[in-house]
Amino acid sequence: MSIADFCNKYVQGLVAYQPGKPIEETARELNLAPEDIVKLASNENALGPSPAAVAAAQQACTGINLYPDGASFALRSKLAELWGVSFEQTVVGAGSSELIELVSHAFLNPQAEVVAAQYSFTLYLLMSRLFNCRYTEVPNKPDMTHDLAGMLRAITPATRLVFITNPTNPVGTMVQQEELDAFMAAVPPHVVVCFDEAYIHFAEQQPDTFRYLRAGQPVVILRTFSKAYGLAGLRVGYAITSPEIADLMNKARSPFNVNLPAQAAALAALADREHLAASVAMVAEGRRQYEAAFREMGLDFVPSHTNFILVKVGCGRAVFESCLREGVILRPMGGYGLGEYIRITIGTPPQNERCIAALRRALKGC
Ligand SMILES: Cc1ncc(COP(=O)(O)O)c(C=O)c1O
Repeated sequence: MSIADFCNKYVQGLVAYQPGKPIEETARELNLAPEDIVKLASNENALGPSPAAVAAAQQACTGINLYPDGASFALRSKLAELWGVSFEQTVVGAGSSELIELVSHAFLNPQAEVVAAQYSFTLYLLMSRLFNCRYTEVPNKPDMTHDLAGMLRAITPATRLVFITNPTNPVGTMVQQEELDAFMAAVPPHVVVCFDEAYIHFAEQQPDTFRYLRAGQPVVILRTFSKAYGLAGLRVGYAITSPEIADLMNKARSPFNVNLPAQAAALAALADREHLAASVAMVAEGRRQYEAAFREMGLDFVPSHTNFILVKVGCGRAVFESCLREGVILRPMGGYGLGEYIRITIGTPPQNERCIAALRRALKGC
C-alpha cells in the first residue's frame, strides 16, 4: 500500500506542465557555459526587462522582510486607471497562469465542462483535469486559427468556461473583432469567456474585448507581464473582469500571491512605454527575419501575431536535438500533435541569426 492509494485519482493521472528546456540544465548536459546558450523556447522577452522595472524591484527588495500588500493596492489601482474600470474589477496573480487557476477555482467542478481550441495553452487542460471536469478540445481551422463557430457548437448547459487564446500559443494565429463579436453575440449567458491575451501586444490589430465587459457579459480578460514587458521571472499577471467574478477569483487566491518586487516592477513596467515599444519592434523585425529565411529555405511556416513562430521542418524532434547540441534551445511540438513543426521564440537579431544558421545545419542532417 502507498499513500498515493488515497490520493485523488485524477491528480495521479496528470502529466505535469512541460516548460521549455532551461539554460542551466542544457549547460550542464552539454558542458557549455550558460552564456553561450540561446534559449528561444519559452516565448520570453529577449530584449530583457525594462531597466526601470529592474530598479523598482531592486528598491523593493530592501523591504522584503515584510509581507507585500496582499491586496496589491498600488498595482491594481494603476491597472484600473489604465483600463477605465473599477479597482474591484481587477485581480493580480503570480503570472496569468495563476489567474487561469483562480478562474478555474471559481467555476470548475466535476459537473462542469471547459471548451478550448485544440491549439491553445496546455494549462487549461491541466486545470480541467485538476478539477476533474470535462474538457472539449475543438479542432482549429485548416489555417490553424480558432474555429469559433465550432467552439460555440461545443458549448453545453454544463459548460462553465471557454478559453479564447488570442493570439494563440503554440501556433501564433489570432481571431479578429468581427468573428469575436459574432461569437459573443451567440454565447449563452451561463458561460464565462476567458480571453487569454498574453501575446496581444505583438499583434498589429488588437481586437477590443473590453466592449463585452462593458456590455455586462461574463468575460475575463487575462494579461501578463511575462511577454512584452519582459518580467517572466518575477511571475506577475492580471485579470480584468466584472466585480462579481473578480471577487470570486480574489477569494480563491492565496493571501500574498504577488510578491513585493513583482508588484513594484510591474508598476514601473507599465510606465515604461518606450521599453514596451522597443520589445514589440524587436519582435516585428525578428518575425520578418525568420519569414525571409524560411522562404529562402523553402519551409512552410504559420504567419505569426506573437513573439514566436511555428515552422514546418519535417522532423521536429531531430531538428530540436541538432540545434540543442549547438546550444540553441527551441521547442519541439510533438506534445501538441505537431511533430513536423518546431516553435521558435523571436530573439534579438544576432540570436535569430544563430538560430537560423543552426536550423540550416540541422535540416541538412534530416
Ligand atoms: C497563452 C498563454 N497564456 C498564459 C501564459 C502564462 O504566462 P504567465 O503565467 O507567465 O503569465 C502563457 C505562457 O507561455 C501562454 O502562452
